[in-house]
Amino acid sequence: MEKLRDRYQRPLRDLRISVTDKCNFRCEYCMPKEIFGPDYPFLPKEKLLTFDEMERLIRLFVRLGVEKVRITGGEPLMRPHLDQWVERIGKIEGIQDIAITTNGFLLKKQAKSLYRAGLRRITVSLDSLDDEVFGRMNGQGIPVRTVLEGIDAAKEAGLSVKINMVVKKGVNDQDILPMARFFKERGDTLRFIEYMDVGNSNGWKLDHVLPSRFILERINEEMPLEPVNPHYFGEVAKRYRYVGTDTEIGFITSVTQAFCSTCTRARLSADGKLFTCLFATEGRELRPLLREGATDEEILQVIQEVWRVREDRYSELRLLNTKGLKKRRKIEMSYIGG
Ligand code: GTP
Ligand code: 5AD
Ligand code: SF4
Ligand code: SF4
Repeated sequence: MEKLRDRYQRPLRDLRISVTDKCNFRCEYCMPKEIFGPDYPFLPKEKLLTFDEMERLIRLFVRLGVEKVRITGGEPLMRPHLDQWVERIGKIEGIQDIAITTNGFLLKKQAKSLYRAGLRRITVSLDSLDDEVFGRMNGQGIPVRTVLEGIDAAKEAGLSVKINMVVKKGVNDQDILPMARFFKERGDTLRFIEYMDVGNSNGWKLDHVLPSRFILERINEEMPLEPVNPHYFGEVAKRYRYVGTDTEIGFITSVTQAFCSTCTRARLSADGKLFTCLFATEGRELRPLLREGATDEEILQVIQEVWRVREDRYSELRLLNTKGLKKRRKIEMSYIGG
């Protein structure tokens, strides 16, 4: 098959699959509880892709160049029997890497079975070590200990763990150094994510973003850092190492230093829509094709059509202050995963 490229010559390498739009947290920057309340219309079960349907799509995506699958949500561990599915995905020839992004709440229960299913790495979100701050940020008063226990269970099971911290100025920036010290001591990789204007409900303002370079400076003053070369083309995080150790730290600068030019990521929502950007407004429905008897070739054709005309570079446009961007009705982060 000829090499698939989008309008900016970017290949398709990563598939990020949301396996549910539900979550047991209500993070203020993602699913504020005023909007995602008890009456919120989450997807009904019949609209969710089944494991068979998702597996079929992954096999097709592999034929187009996908090597890496990231499982997201909502909260992916809320999808029943996720471990069984991970095991199936791991057996697909051509998939070199599978990872899950989770809030950690169910990890204590599921870490061992996920490892047994073949999972080797996982990313856990944690925004503060202070119960009061974290409880407010996750919207449910969930204590830090619950997530730390999940992280420990994952490590004990044999999984390699990274920690994601979204930094919101005035909310948890005071936790940057305590988080860095804590995870350096434990030898765990911590990554700082700039707070983004995903979705339409988090009331994002540029004033809330603390640029990564300031975080880097602050940490470097106390604990000297040196840059590490990227692992792969288009790596999302800029990686550093604490001098004299093997412990890494990363910065995801989606707001202040966009990385669209190397973006090789497609996203699949839990109900089977294909999106070519985290900030997309529309996706291409794949579920009807799956359920109405389309052949593999027909589905491949559709995916290729979508990718070939792709010109997304939202974060770069934001940096350029492009007009009209604010009026776009974007998809929600909890719907498409991170
Ligand atoms: P590794 O495979 O471990 O390198 O993971 P990753 O950094 O690609 O994945 P992860 O899900 O941990 O990504 C961290 C965060 O970076 C996501 O939750 C998003 O907030 C952000 N992110 C990932 N991909 C993109 C992207 O394509 N665009 C933007 N703007 N942000 C992204
Ligand atoms: N800005 C930056 N990161 C976000 N995440 C969720 N919402 C936002 C946002 N508005 C992160 C989560 C998690 C991953 C799925 O995306 O904290 O690490
Ligand atoms: Fe749930 Fe993750 Fe969104 Fe928080 S960021 S509400 S844990 S999906
Ligand atoms: Fe890719 Fe869109 Fe993120 Fe840019 S903003 S890196 S195009 S997902």
